[in-house]
Amino acid sequence: MAFAIKVNGNTHSVDADGDTPLLWVLRDVLGMTGTKFGCGMALCGACTVHLDGVAIRSCITPIDSIGTSAITTIETIGATAVGAKVQKAWLDREVVQCGYCQSGQIMSASALLASKPHPTDSEIDAAMSGNICRCGTYLRIREAIKQAAKSIEQRD
Ligand code: FES
Ligand code: FES
Repeated sequence: MAFAIKVNGNTHSVDADGDTPLLWVLRDVLGMTGTKFGCGMALCGACTVHLDGVAIRSCITPIDSIGTSAITTIETIGATAVGAKVQKAWLDREVVQCGYCQSGQIMSASALLASKPHPTDSEIDAAMSGNICRCGTYLRIREAIKQAAKSIEQRD
């Protein structure tokens, strides 16, 4: 069946079964491989994208549930004001180790700061708790989120 989905500002016609996870469509059909497969069961956060600005796990999101909602992926998050601040903070703090989890981390952090520009430590921990990092970059992630929050504040 054909579905029209809006990804990063462009509408794509996708021929797939309705229960196909969005993650497969992004990676295998549209060739957007920045979004990663980790567990396939909403347990690791590697596949996080935004649906109308809200962080979701694309591995458990069937394509037929998306409708007209707008999907944003790691490929274009840097074009948003908050995403650009988050990516700069990630570089400044040298957050990344192997990198596998980091698209998902950045997407969760960007969704958090877009909805809550001044998060407390516990709000950061709650928002990021579903994003697993096997390299243990958690402390640098938290510092980078704080730096990004501060730079958003200065801009405001
Ligand atoms: S691959 Fe989706 S949460 Fe792990
Ligand atoms: S940087 Fe390696 S899994 Fe997070």
